[in-house]
Amino acid sequence: MGETSSAALPTLRLLTCGSVDDGKSTLIGRLLYEKKLIFDDQLVALERDSKKFGTTEDSIDFALLVDGLEAEREQGITIDVAYRYFATSARSFIVADTPGHEQYTRNMATGASNADIAIVLVDARKGLLTQTHRHSIIVSLLGVRHVVLAVNKIDLVGYDERIFRNIVIDYRKFAESLGFRSLHAIPISARFGDNVSSRSARTPWYQGAHLLEHLERIEVEEDRRAAPFRLPVQWINRPHLDFRGFTGTIPSGRVRRGDPIVVAGSGRQTEVARILVADQEVEDAEAGDAVTLSLADEVDIARGDVLAHPESRPEVADQFTAHILWMSAEPMLPGRSYLMKIGARTTPASITDLKHRVDVNNFDKLAAKRLDLNEVGFCNIATTMPVAYDAYAENREMGAFILIDRQTNETAAAGMIAHGLRRATNVHRHGMTVTREAHAEQKHQKPAILWFTGLSGAGKSTIANLVETKLHARGAHTALLDGDNVRHGLNKDLGFTAADRVENIRRIGEVAKLMTDVGLIVLCSFISPFRAERRLVRDTAAEGEFIEIYVETTLEAAIARDPKGLYKRALAGEIKNFTGVDQPYEAPETPELVLNSAEESAEALADRVITELEQRGCIARL
Ligand code: ADX
Repeated sequence: MGETSSAALPTLRLLTCGSVDDGKSTLIGRLLYEKKLIFDDQLVALERDSKKFGTTEDSIDFALLVDGLEAEREQGITIDVAYRYFATSARSFIVADTPGHEQYTRNMATGASNADIAIVLVDARKGLLTQTHRHSIIVSLLGVRHVVLAVNKIDLVGYDERIFRNIVIDYRKFAESLGFRSLHAIPISARFGDNVSSRSARTPWYQGAHLLEHLERIEVEEDRRAAPFRLPVQWINRPHLDFRGFTGTIPSGRVRRGDPIVVAGSGRQTEVARILVADQEVEDAEAGDAVTLSLADEVDIARGDVLAHPESRPEVADQFTAHILWMSAEPMLPGRSYLMKIGARTTPASITDLKHRVDVNNFDKLAAKRLDLNEVGFCNIATTMPVAYDAYAENREMGAFILIDRQTNETAAAGMIAHGLRRATNVHRHGMTVTREAHAEQKHQKPAILWFTGLSGAGKSTIANLVETKLHARGAHTALLDGDNVRHGLNKDLGFTAADRVENIRRIGEVAKLMTDVGLIVLCSFISPFRAERRLVRDTAAEGEFIEIYVETTLEAAIARDPKGLYKRALAGEIKNFTGVDQPYEAPETPELVLNSAEESAEALADRVITELEQRGCIARL
């Protein structure tokens, strides 16, 4: 490798972004090559590969250096965030290189989330593109405060100063509201090396620093060590009875032995007894260190809690506003339950309200009901467990989170907390004097939610009605919820789009939960086509009280029955979003009961539900 580092300035984490042919890889390859930062054998491979795969005829194709060796390249594009490390005598660098394809915005966001500076590449021939805008806005949202506008391929426009100036004027105007602290524009040719690691004689009109010079010198303040101390507890370490340690990586601030410490959620205070870094006892530790702290007192601390200094605590809330970047092919639906990972905590969370979508081309606020892939929105989020956080603008490490799709385990979104809406300390409801146990006992039953799901016309309501009749006859206390009493009242503002169905089921789930709290056996008869919402109701219900009953039928049988004549109209295109016709039905994977009306009479099926309730001890056996 070339020169070794004696870095006076801290390592610079940089992100390159731009569209696919803007020359990101060529630029970084050029830097590595010119500074002799590549191994000789790599150089030989590069020359050989340039002949074989290169797009630059006889000369070396520097992009190949960054885009990786043969296997990767055969796929045609770089497909993930690639991190490259290199160092000059002045500084060391970590480069996150991300593909520029539209669908890979999520990779860009991953790279941006810890970058100090972004190099935004623009093709001098094309000027600013949609992706230039989008990437700049994402970079800004993710808290990157320094930008280099690299106007590349300046050789292809004859090193024309006017073209460069016009692009810079356009970009400065666009970037006004993005809150960048520094914006440095450079005319470059990544292919020929103009202004990359030395000043080019072909752009005499450009007097500024060349790219490398700028990167070596720039100070990216924001000293994480100066921010308040935080330690999200990743795990609790108990090697033997006399030692209980709290382990995690310090995202910001510093801690000394003897410091007072508070657990952000509970407010319990104690002192730091010992600090271990890599099994060595030390006096203090700071941002970036992986530590184990032991504390002076036995304090109740769980994984995911955040330790802080009592005089500068993080916020604790279970509702807040946040910007989110949607990264899943499945649209974001308000009300749906996701898993939120923030710091060391994972908690169910849902987007309770989408305030607006952000037009990533001009930062306009647009009305929206949902977010699709690569869209950015501003929304309210509610979590099941309270979380300790700092606003992203103040502390990137403490204010960033991801949302995970509970069905696929995919990262569905990256988020940045703006501010809290409700302090979690207020949320604990006062204990009710008449408990849910007392309610149930008085009714001589155990509450339950009988959740009938299935296609329209499967026979859900017929069976649910029979079950309620039988329960009533036995003196049980019940409530029946179905489209007739819910969609005409509580939910009369909702239709049949996916988003409305999500909200329909969410509200019904909450109502059913309240009803079980007063001891009722609640029968719910809804198509409820999506697994995620049935899962949400299951999670909302008390342990073991949710009984999912799949009323199974084939679509053909439902269409043949068509009791309300709706399939006929849906098939004729007169009704949109009809389940089974132009909207999916996701059958339950592990329902408690499967009932098939083609095989048994409704009477017999209802009896099976009654038997299930007896077996669970919800009602007494006759
Ligand atoms: S759910 O999907 O949100 O659970 P819900 O069970 O409340 O649906 O309502 C379904 C009933 O509404 C159907 O049985 C049918 O009578 C009626 N309906 C009207 N339009 C539609 C539609 N587009 N898709 C399905 N059902 C519809």
